[in-house]
Amino acid sequence: MDWFEVLSENYLVAGGAPLHFLDRIAERYPVAMHGVSLSIGGSDELDRDYLRELRKLADRIQPRLVSDHLCWTGIDGAQLHDLLPLPQTEEAVNHVAARLRQVQDALARPLLLENVSSYLRFAHSTLSEWDFMVAVAEQADCGLLLDVNNVYVNSVNHGFDAHRYLDALPPRRVKQIHLAGHSRSADGALLIDTHDQPVAEAVWSLYEYAVRRFGPVPVMIERDDRIPPLAELLDELDRARRIVGSLALAA
Ligand SMILES: [Fe+2]
Repeated sequence: MDWFEVLSENYLVAGGAPLHFLDRIAERYPVAMHGVSLSIGGSDELDRDYLRELRKLADRIQPRLVSDHLCWTGIDGAQLHDLLPLPQTEEAVNHVAARLRQVQDALARPLLLENVSSYLRFAHSTLSEWDFMVAVAEQADCGLLLDVNNVYVNSVNHGFDAHRYLDALPPRRVKQIHLAGHSRSADGALLIDTHDQPVAEAVWSLYEYAVRRFGPVPVMIERDDRIPPLAELLDELDRARRIVGSLALAA
């Protein structure tokens, strides 16, 4: 492994073993911080205590990248612990971009936003998901964490061409990539972003397309459940490396 991504919320503590080990890892490897509770698209005030803690952790471990999701995660003070999709409208673009500028100021660093998987869409959306992503990134001047599996899952669930999505993203905005596995819902109607399977073949080929467009940006394979032996995960990592390597040779 070349670098580590840590779930920021697990380390927003004053001490203890996990933080101790994170310090040791950060001494030896590049680290990326990945958050799940910013709720950049939410309508509650930004949580200043959370941002202060996040900045403290970032100052401590000096991550190369800091990211969260283009979503909302709660309302009226309730944290729903889910990455919920936003309506894809100009109003939401303005809302997210204004908050993102405040977040980047509070963290004193750039923040990458990741595209989330979704299972429904808002009837009043006026923008495609990719145009929404690009508008947010341009207006807030932020980078993107491109989850290739989420693009694929949404392309099946909402019936769009995943390549068209990638074609729309400006290469200079894409700073990190996620790969992951998904499952099919019991009724077969939807793909669910479960992170409990190997990366699917269709996602590997979309990743290859992404590397051609965005270059060898740092890639991470997410696996949250049904964790296989480490060797199997390292095989997947090798496959990602081979894709990057073969395209570099071909260039
Ligand atoms: Fe992801």
